[in-house]
Amino acid sequence: MATRTASFGAPKREGHDSSVFYSRNLYQGDFESLHRLLIEIGVGGTRRKIPFKPLQDWADRIYCHTSEDMRHVPDGSVALAFTSPPYNSGKEYDEDLDIAAYFGLMSRVGAEVYRTLKPGGRYVINIANLGRKPYIPMHAYFYLIHTGLGFLPAGEIIWQKSRGANGSCAWGSWLSAKSPRLRDIHEYLLVFVKEHFSRPDTGTSDVTREEFMSSTLSVWEVQPESAKRVGHPAPFPMELASRVIKLYSYVRDVVLDPFAGSGTTCVAAKRLGRHYVGYEIVPEYCALSAGRLQKER
Ligand SMILES: C[S@@+](CC[C@H](N)C(=O)[O-])C[C@H]1O[C@@H](n2cnc3c(N)ncnc32)[C@H](O)[C@@H]1O
Repeated sequence: MATRTASFGAPKREGHDSSVFYSRNLYQGDFESLHRLLIEIGVGGTRRKIPFKPLQDWADRIYCHTSEDMRHVPDGSVALAFTSPPYNSGKEYDEDLDIAAYFGLMSRVGAEVYRTLKPGGRYVINIANLGRKPYIPMHAYFYLIHTGLGFLPAGEIIWQKSRGANGSCAWGSWLSAKSPRLRDIHEYLLVFVKEHFSRPDTGTSDVTREEFMSSTLSVWEVQPESAKRVGHPAPFPMELASRVIKLYSYVRDVVLDPFAGSGTTCVAAKRLGRHYVGYEIVPEYCALSAGRLQKER
């Protein structure tokens, strides 16, 4: 029986029927309006101003609220944001947005992340590219959107999810040059900074020598997380979040995840002695993160 693009976890791909995926609005919208949008995006993020508030009034919680409006988080208060955005590719929680509407959402969230970051703060975005007919180089669009908002690109990590052959048989034309297709075994972690490439403030780092040596290499081999085990359609592994947090933040910094999902970033931050703040719009996932965070006490 033909498989379909999975709304929960990763599909097996024998005889894969991709018609549902290609019928989504992502593929109906015109790419011209996306290019217009990219040109129109202003520099420097949102105009909103949220004044200083003590940490205990807003941090160490998940807000069940859209991250297009992170009104609870004061300006310049976050050291690191790490996230994996919704891909709009048909997961359970995905809306069926066209490409311009999707990047409109990403730019509104990016502008809010920019506002909440300290000077020298980092925004690390985990993203995969999509489709084949045509291939959508999401990471390239993310660069355009975020540099347009004022972020400075500071590096790119290839997250290698498996070493060699994965279970996918979606190779297109078998043993023929007619239409061979690549089977992705990687995703990207795009690293952006606000204003400065190094942190102007000081703090305590807890990364070990071995961790530093391997995390500063641009390819990370980390096993993917099981959707079933966590109870969310697309969680990233705790190891990925822990590596990013240890490399890019000091102990007691605030770590933000604007698309918190099952709360992996927030749990890793708490385990590593950082403050956290998460935004998520699906109430079940907010409850799932709250439960995971509670177990960390
Ligand atoms: C790829 S998942 C994140 C998974 C997460 N990294 C984890 O390990 O569980 C993206 C999440 O963004 C949420 N989301 C979508 N639109 C949102 C918005 N406007 N504000 C906040 N969260 C949103 C989705 O419900 C989904 O749970």
